[in-house]
Amino acid sequence: MEAQMQTRPPTSVRLRAIAGAGALTLLLSAPSSLAQQPANDEAAQQAFNNSCRTCHSVKEGDNRLGPNLNKILGRKAGALPNYNYSPSMKEAGFVWDQDKLTRFLIKPDEVVSGNKMQPYGGVSADEAAKVVAYLLAVGGQ
Ligand code: HEC
Repeated sequence: MEAQMQTRPPTSVRLRAIAGAGALTLLLSAPSSLAQQPANDEAAQQAFNNSCRTCHSVKEGDNRLGPNLNKILGRKAGALPNYNYSPSMKEAGFVWDQDKLTRFLIKPDEVVSGNKMQPYGGVSADEAAKVVAYLLAVGGQ
C-alpha cells in the first residue's frame, strides 16, 4: 500500500490526465447529443405539439379542451361518451380515416360544419400530413 502511494505521479501530471479525460468526455458525448430521431418522427411529433397539443392529448381518457385523440383513426367522429361535443360533431356520422382527418385539419368546417374546434384556424396540407402521421404512429389503425 505504502509503496503504491510513493509511486503516484506528481500533481502536475495528474492534472493533465484529468484535463485529458475531460476532453475525451466531451468528444464522446458530442455525437450522442447531435444524434436525432429519424427526421420524420421528430417533425411529426413537433407538428402535433405545435398545432394540437394545447387542446388535445393522445392518452386514452385524457380529455382536455378537446377530446383525447387516442386511436382517433378508425374511431367514430364525436363518439367519446365522456366528452361534451358540439351537436354537429356528435351527429357527424362517419369514422375518421386518414383522408377525412387530413381534410378536417386543413379546413375543419368543410368536413364537420358547425364544429366547435375553436379557436383553430386550420393548418397547411404539409402540416396536416405530419400530424396524421404522428396520430397513426402513436396509436391507430
Ligand atoms: C383551440 C383548441 C383546439 C386545437 C388547437 C385543436 N383542436 Fe381538435 N378539437 C377541439 C375541440 C373543442 C373539439 C370538439 C369539437 C366539437 O365537438 O365540435 C375538437 C375535436 C377534434 C376532433 C374530433 C374528435 C372526435 O372524437 O371525433 C379531432 C379528430 C381533432 N379535434 C383533431 C385535432 C388535431 C389533429 C389538431 C391539431 C392539428 C387539433 N384538433 C387542434 C379543440 C382543438
